[in-house]
Amino acid sequence: MCGIFAYAGTKNAVPLLIEGLRSVEYRGYDSAGISVIDSYGEIQTMKRGDHKSSLENLANAVGDSLLSGLVGIGHTRWATHGEVNQQNSHPHSSNNGSVSIAHNGIVENFIELKDRLVDSGIEFQSETDSEVLAHLVGNAVASGNSLREAVINAASQIKGNTAIVAVSTAEPDLVVGLRVGNAGGIVVGKNDDVAVMASDTIALLPYTSEVIYIEPNEVVEIEKGDVRIFDLAGSVIDREPIVTSQNFEAAQKGNHPHFMSKEIAEQPEAIQGAMRGRADFSNGTLTLPEISLTSEQMRSLDRVILTGMGTSLHAAMFGASVIESLSRIPAYAENSSELRYRNPVLGPNTLVVAVTQSGETADTLAAMEHARSAGAPQGVVLELEGSQATRIAEFTLPIRAGQEIGVASTKTMIASMTTLLQLAVVLAETREAIDSDQVKVIVESMSELPSLVASALGINGQISELSERLSKFEDLLYLGRGAQLPIALEGALKMKELAYIHAEGYPAGEMKHGVNALLGSDMATVVSAPQNDLYEKMLSNISEVKARGGEVVAIATEGDETIKRVADHVIYVPECPELLQPFMTLIPMQLLSYRTALVLGRDPDKPRNLAKTVTVE
Ligand code: AGP
Repeated sequence: MCGIFAYAGTKNAVPLLIEGLRSVEYRGYDSAGISVIDSYGEIQTMKRGDHKSSLENLANAVGDSLLSGLVGIGHTRWATHGEVNQQNSHPHSSNNGSVSIAHNGIVENFIELKDRLVDSGIEFQSETDSEVLAHLVGNAVASGNSLREAVINAASQIKGNTAIVAVSTAEPDLVVGLRVGNAGGIVVGKNDDVAVMASDTIALLPYTSEVIYIEPNEVVEIEKGDVRIFDLAGSVIDREPIVTSQNFEAAQKGNHPHFMSKEIAEQPEAIQGAMRGRADFSNGTLTLPEISLTSEQMRSLDRVILTGMGTSLHAAMFGASVIESLSRIPAYAENSSELRYRNPVLGPNTLVVAVTQSGETADTLAAMEHARSAGAPQGVVLELEGSQATRIAEFTLPIRAGQEIGVASTKTMIASMTTLLQLAVVLAETREAIDSDQVKVIVESMSELPSLVASALGINGQISELSERLSKFEDLLYLGRGAQLPIALEGALKMKELAYIHAEGYPAGEMKHGVNALLGSDMATVVSAPQNDLYEKMLSNISEVKARGGEVVAIATEGDETIKRVADHVIYVPECPELLQPFMTLIPMQLLSYRTALVLGRDPDKPRNLAKTVTVE
């Protein structure tokens, strides 16, 4: 969703605001803008609504201008209300130009507020919901409130999760930020006579690695070298900064053409990170020190519900599969936007496990809050420590993949799967569903995982030709069974989000129940068919597709000569224990979509219409 960056210091804020927005552009955006308070104490705003080229065009425009100022706010917009154009871009100003704001979130009651403001004589410049905030804050400042009081006043009138940053000519050295609910984070930092605020930690790294996360229902002021945090009643909040583990260098592409190719290649290290301090390969044991549940609690669990969105939901599905098969606790994965609204039956013996690399996905956070209010113990599997999800869950299982910049999740998925597999082993051993010898065998096989994935990455050569072939199709079908179903769904999602090709993931057993009607030479089918108990069934599915003129790409276990006789194309992945096969078959799914995107001239790091973190529902 929208990116935010604000600066209050002693240098010209204009180029620094552009750089700050560049560091959060991976979130996806279609517009960009900045407001600064110039040397005359006036607010100057420049913005562009030019889709992907907005930030570049804005940088060129400000570069050609004399715009300068020591305090300012910047915003990259991902349109929710109002089409993509310059006037709908943020920041938005009050009618008298004394206040400018940028906003992340949705003002759910904006029509009612807008009507009231228009009736009072306010003239709107845009079709956005966010602009009501500029006028509400402007009115409150005009009535004598400080900027901080005015932002609080405005936020109290709106419904919906929100993150706001604002500047005012009445207090020209100040930027105010406020969070209500979960609409993406606000993080602040300072260094000597500079203070900065952003939606993402990565934007603060050029200034400081000591950061403070603003929590919902808090407001923050930044001024030259000063950060002040308050609750909404105005009481000061003392919060020590934490040293972030994120680093700016790691966020660069290195010698990769795209962040996505870098992050696919980093998966062996991501798996190692997820096992660090947990799997003891010399003793063949496995612990998860972060789990706050007692052994008693783990033994009394009667159900595990995993939840997430998109790729994280697919990781959650893998988690459910391994948790149930190893620990014998009934486990299933559910889309968070469904779980949050269906009033599920949850209780003290239902473990809820959220999977969310950003820790800020609105639907996932809402499902987590529902689980907490229902009294269900819950944990969260995530990458971005300090995110909102860590403050809702009872325990956090960091996946330690390293920050992921590409919008498409790759290394965070495999790291989430690795973490969930370890959770499954710990639950199973605690409940004596498996013994220490069985744990040893699993840990031993996991020690091979990074090198197995590294060799699976070596298939890159086979992929290019196949990507050319798949790029010719408008419709693709992905089939899998058992633990391979989440991988088939993930393969279809990746092809959709990167190559913009319609791709459907399906349980292979569904073919005869309607899907067969789709088969024909105009649709190719990708089948995940490693050698396991369901292999013969998958061979039958391949034959069904072939019999109806469909073209088949099979993902198979190295050395499998049989499948060559039925599939048109075969991508081989390394042989490994069945438990680890999803880690192998995931790799060609990622590479196929990445390369097909390149064949079709798509931007794999910033796919159209998508954002890295979906902080609105
Ligand atoms: C997957 O490639 C997408 N980036 C998207 O589906 C993502 O997995 C989903 O939005 C959930 O994000 P989260 O893991 O940060 O909660």
